[in-house]
Amino acid sequence: MKRQKKLIVGNWKMNPQRVEDAKKIVGEVKKGIRNVKKTQVVLCPPFVYLSSVSSSFKAPLFLGAQDAFYETLGSFTGEVSYTMLQQFKTEFVIVGHSERRKMGEKDEDVNKKVRAVVSCGMTAITCVGESDRDHGGEYLHFIRKQITDALNGVPKKSLSQVVVAYEPIWAIGAKESMTPRDLHETSIFIKKVLVDLFGTLAGDVRIIYGGAVDRTNADRLVKEGNVSGLLIGRESLKPKEFAEIIKLVEAI
Ligand code: PGA
Repeated sequence: MKRQKKLIVGNWKMNPQRVEDAKKIVGEVKKGIRNVKKTQVVLCPPFVYLSSVSSSFKAPLFLGAQDAFYETLGSFTGEVSYTMLQQFKTEFVIVGHSERRKMGEKDEDVNKKVRAVVSCGMTAITCVGESDRDHGGEYLHFIRKQITDALNGVPKKSLSQVVVAYEPIWAIGAKESMTPRDLHETSIFIKKVLVDLFGTLAGDVRIIYGGAVDRTNADRLVKEGNVSGLLIGRESLKPKEFAEIIKLVEAI
């Protein structure tokens, strides 16, 4: 098992409205994380901004995309292929975000995308998470199935390019995140699922958490939740707050 760095991912979704603002946020985040060494920071702007911001990215800041299509070229109106993304130094791709699943993306599509992304050396941030929690524990079966389907056929040698982003849908965009204690239980469960799938190599897969992360809960979620990092929506568009979260996690 390789020792991996912590990972903080900013998912900008369909924001900001103008490319100048995108450039500004990148510049400010970059300044704010100058001394960061133990953490990888990924920003995932909308596709159309990738080429304009790409030249500003260098470690510890990495460029990510919010999705990638699994074919390399052809008649797929509106899609952007994983090979196109590579040209702009894109190293991470969010796959299977719940907002995309809501628009019709299936486990099978997520699986094809994960395999495509890792096949060319990029890292697939693979999103899973239940829409609600029932007392009978059905949600655990749901999470297990999502992970199993998404990672089906991923070569063992590529597991260090797989991140499982656990994002309970009820916490995304919400006022409050899940509790670090509940996250701890779930991260243990996800680790067990990964061990069932990949045995001793399961530790190559990083697990991160997403859903209403901010500077008041970030370090406890990572520390007590026992995860390798965070996937952050709203707060990643606020450079000061985002940098503060990164520094808190770096200090753990
Ligand atoms: P949020 O979004 O941080 O705004 O809750 C998280 C996500 O959707 O990835």
